[in-house]
Amino acid sequence: MKTLLFGKNGQLGWEFQRILPILGEVISLDREELDICDLRAIQKKINELKPDLIINASAYTDVDLSEKENELAMKINALAPGIMAEMSRKLEAVFVHYSTDYVFDGRKGSTYKESDPTHPLNMYGKSKLAGEENIKQACEAYLILRTSWVYSLRGNSFVNKVLKWSRQNKNLKVVNDQISSPTWARTLAEVTGFVLAQHKKDLYEAICERGGIYHLTGGGFTSRYEWAKQILANDPARSEQIVQAIEPASSEEFPTPAVRPLFSALDCTLFEERFGLRLPDWRDTLQLAMTE
Ligand SMILES: NC(=O)c1ccc[n+]([C@@H]2O[C@H](COP(=O)([O-])OP(=O)(O)OC[C@H]3O[C@@H](n4cnc5c(N)ncnc54)[C@H](OP(=O)(O)O)[C@@H]3O)[C@@H](O)[C@H]2O)c1
Repeated sequence: MKTLLFGKNGQLGWEFQRILPILGEVISLDREELDICDLRAIQKKINELKPDLIINASAYTDVDLSEKENELAMKINALAPGIMAEMSRKLEAVFVHYSTDYVFDGRKGSTYKESDPTHPLNMYGKSKLAGEENIKQACEAYLILRTSWVYSLRGNSFVNKVLKWSRQNKNLKVVNDQISSPTWARTLAEVTGFVLAQHKKDLYEAICERGGIYHLTGGGFTSRYEWAKQILANDPARSEQIVQAIEPASSEEFPTPAVRPLFSALDCTLFEERFGLRLPDWRDTLQLAMTE
C-alpha cells in the first residue's frame, strides 16, 4: 500500500512519519516540497504518485491570525482538502483528514456528538467546517476526525508554552472557563494508524462503509487551568521552574482576536464503538508524553 502524507513536520504529521511505515510505502511532504495553496500542484502530485491512501496532517492552525488571514486559512483548510478529496475519489484512494472542536459554539453545555449542529464562532472554525463540507461532497471513502487541543513536546504547543512561562514567571494566570480535551499528537496518529491497519486488506471498501465524521480526542475533559497544573506537575525538570502560584482566570481577562467556544469537549463514543477502541484518559497520556 502506498500512502501520501501532507504536513509531515506538523505536530501530527511528525508522529505519522513514525508510524505510517507499518502500512507500507510512505511519501511524506512538507511545505517546501509542496505548498498546498497551489491547488494544481496538489492535483499533479497526487496524479503522479497514485497513492492508495492520502493523509492530510497539514492545516492553517493559527486560530487568532485566521481572523486576519481569512482567505489563506480558507485556501489551506477548505479548498486544498477539497482537491485532495476529489483526487482520492478519482484514484479510489482513501482520504483521512482532521477537523476541530471549534466547529461548535460551545453553548450546548455537554459534550458534542457528531450529529450535533455546527456553529463555529471564529474564522478558523469556519474554514475547517468548509473543509469538512468540501470533502463530504467530493469523495466517498473518507475519515474526517474532529479533534481538540492537540499537543506534542515539539513545537509551539500549549504544553511547551506552559513550561516556558513557568521558567519566566513567579505567578501564572490561566483561563479556567475554556473546557475541552487535551490530545497527544502521538495518540491521534497511533489510533488512526491502528484503524487503518485493521482494515488494510480492503481499506477502500471498509472506509466507504464505515467512514465519515468521527470525534477523536484524549479521554475525559478539563479546563486550560487544570491542564496547565498537570503540565507543571509532570514537568521532568521541575527544579527549573520559578513559578510559585498558578491562578485561574476568565477568558474575558485575556481578550484575543478570535472568540473561542467555552465548552467544546467532544463525545468520542461513536468512534470507540465503531472501531472497537478505548481512548486513553488525557491525564495518563500527558504523563506518558512528558516522561518518555
Ligand atoms: N493544534 C490544535 O490544537 C488542534 C486542535 C483541533 C484540531 N486540530 C487539527 O489537527 C490537525 C493537525 O494539527 P497540528 O497541531 O498537527 O498542526 P500543526 O502542528 O500546526 O501542523 C500543520 C502543518 O501544516 C503545514 N502547512 C501549513 N500551511 C501549509 C501550506 N500552505 N503548504 C504545505 N504545508 C502547510 C505546516 O507547515 P509549516 O510547518 O511549514 O508551517 C505544518 O507542518 C489539523 O487539521 C488541525 O486543524 C489541531
